[in-house]
Amino acid sequence: LIPFNRLGATLEFRKEVLSQIDNLLISGVYLNGKYTDSFEEKFAQLIGVNHASAVSSGTAALTLALRSLNLPKGSKLITTANSGGYARISAELNGLETHYVDVDLNGLLDVRSISHELLLNARVMIVTHMYGQCANLKEITSICKKFDILLIEDCAQSIGAKFEDRMVGSFGDLATFSFYPTKNLGGIGDAGMVVTDSLELIQKVRSLKQYGWKSKYFCETPHGDNLRIDEIQALILSFKLPNLLDYNKKRLKIWEKYLHAINGKNLRLIGKNSDCFVAHLAVIDAGSHRERLKKFLNNYGIETAIHYPFLDFEQPGLRISPTPKLENSEYLSKSILSIPLFPNLEDHEVEYICEKLSEYEMQ
Ligand SMILES: Cc1ncc(COP(=O)(O)O)c(C=O)c1O
Repeated sequence: LIPFNRLGATLEFRKEVLSQIDNLLISGVYLNGKYTDSFEEKFAQLIGVNHASAVSSGTAALTLALRSLNLPKGSKLITTANSGGYARISAELNGLETHYVDVDLNGLLDVRSISHELLLNARVMIVTHMYGQCANLKEITSICKKFDILLIEDCAQSIGAKFEDRMVGSFGDLATFSFYPTKNLGGIGDAGMVVTDSLELIQKVRSLKQYGWKSKYFCETPHGDNLRIDEIQALILSFKLPNLLDYNKKRLKIWEKYLHAINGKNLRLIGKNSDCFVAHLAVIDAGSHRERLKKFLNNYGIETAIHYPFLDFEQPGLRISPTPKLENSEYLSKSILSIPLFPNLEDHEVEYICEKLSEYEMQ
């Protein structure tokens, strides 16, 4: 069986990191320590922003980023419905009103699908860089500027991707990241990051992630919470960070092999062979073949997944009324299939997946 992910740490990694973990255990500093500080510093450098604040998850990062903007309750937020529901959840936690817009056939927010009325009334947009790609940040930043809409980039799936020579995460007023174990930079549990160039906003995030404190036991900012990162996650993530770009390259190499394997078939692998793609997921647009291709691969022991099988508003907990009509989002949710893509896939496993993909017969 080839699993969709294989997360167990390698012996080599464990050997190197265990002595550092041992020192951390002895030190007794489990929160707000040197590992968090240095991880934030290195991360901000990598993305090319002034400030970074490490938090407890990608969803916490989105929630804190929105909360730092201090928008009135009921403010309108623009986002997409195919991106896992995280933006919507963070909007709900901040009392904001979500307005869904459509995506292009790569699953990325399409500015052309935003009505003029919504542009005039919206206060904030969350754009999700799906599957390892970059949304069209040129169009998005220019429309946000023109209509005075604040922009948050959700980079959970695209860490290290570049748009015109700058890292994603450096374009929005704020940007968020997730270090969920399967992400391109994955922890051994939950963690996330908020980045921004604004000192004022990062100070808000730092306060809000720790009860709204200005200093210990003195709450200055309303609606604070406890959404800190643990030192042990910061240690693990700092340790992995220097290898991120190499691992992204490995992912892209595997993705390119898949691209080659489906050549000539009526299957479309979403993504690009360039710096603006970090191959977080290998997503095939299989059109009406999705279920058949899934069964075919599963029968040969290749695990698959769907990112994501339901649009936000198709789920009971995320309904809105009236139900939006989003053609491309609906098409993709019924047509996409993700196949295994992680850096420690063995060569022979990649070859096997390629072989099965090329054997698949379209009818
Ligand atoms: C695009 C996107 N945004 C947000 C999240 C939420 O991150 P977390 O699971 O760390 O809360 C995820 C992944 O889980 C994601 O893929």
